[in-house]
Amino acid sequence: MLQLLPERGSLDSDSLERLYAHPESRHLRVNFITSLDGGIEVDGRSGPLGGPPDRAAFMAMRAVADVVMVGARTARAEDYGPVRLGPDRVGRRAARGQGGDPPLAVVTAGADLDTGSRMFAGDGRLIVYTTATAVSRRPTLRRVADVVVCGDHIVDLHAVVADLRRRNLGRVLCEGGPSLTRGLFAADLVDELCLTLAPLLVGSAASSLSGAWPGTVPGRFELAGLVEGDGMLMARYRVVRPEGGG
Ligand SMILES: NC(=O)c1ccc[n+]([C@@H]2O[C@H](COP(=O)([O-])OP(=O)(O)OC[C@H]3O[C@@H](n4cnc5c(N)ncnc54)[C@H](OP(=O)(O)O)[C@@H]3O)[C@@H](O)[C@H]2O)c1
Repeated sequence: MLQLLPERGSLDSDSLERLYAHPESRHLRVNFITSLDGGIEVDGRSGPLGGPPDRAAFMAMRAVADVVMVGARTARAEDYGPVRLGPDRVGRRAARGQGGDPPLAVVTAGADLDTGSRMFAGDGRLIVYTTATAVSRRPTLRRVADVVVCGDHIVDLHAVVADLRRRNLGRVLCEGGPSLTRGLFAADLVDELCLTLAPLLVGSAASSLSGAWPGTVPGRFELAGLVEGDGMLMARYRVVRPEGGG
């Protein structure tokens, strides 16, 4: 893999983690892969878009995060399991003062999660950010997950991020999907968008990052970094906030 910006150079796992180190202890990064025609899935899954370079960047981003967050539809569609980094990455985390594998956090208003699915299978407990309405319907969820109520009917994403910070999980990696990402952007909670452009077309039926925005669409981004591998471009865009803004 070749780093093109901010300076040129080849990258290995160690240097990728340095590249993707969060600039602050409270920093929310979103990571997405998209085809040349903007598609973010093939038959409901993002896997067919990726390849070894994007997988390496994906793992580096996980390795530097305090927590990995996903929307419930992505967790279900991609059959999410607990994050497993392996001994080398965990060793580098320890050297940086971070804990073992980062926990997984799922955002769901309805809490319609199959407790037999892989996401519940870890040694550490899954964090579920949900609503009072859902918890009253599914009180047993608390037996298998760390359930946090963030609103009555809809999940207040500010409350989610505040809770993560209280737990010292301020370096957040959100792995999608588009609905949760739009919600985070609309709430002005995103600091960085990592976007991989995969050199293929998937056709117009595929869903994309665009859709109904539940609030203001962020105005501007600045390019913080660019990496190339097997024809994939992995860009890192920093959200530009107006002077004096959060
Ligand atoms: N290309 C990529 O990099 C990439 C990355 C991730 C996902 N994907 C693809 O994206 C698709 C799923 O994306 P999606 O947009 O349908 O779903 P999503 O963003 O993964 O999840 C949406 C769900 O999140 C929950 N949620 C709770 N509060 C929310 C809030 N305030 N704002 C937004 N969501 C909230 C709701 O769960 P409940 O319905 O349970 O209440 C909602 O239905 C899958 O096909 C997946 O493969 C692609």
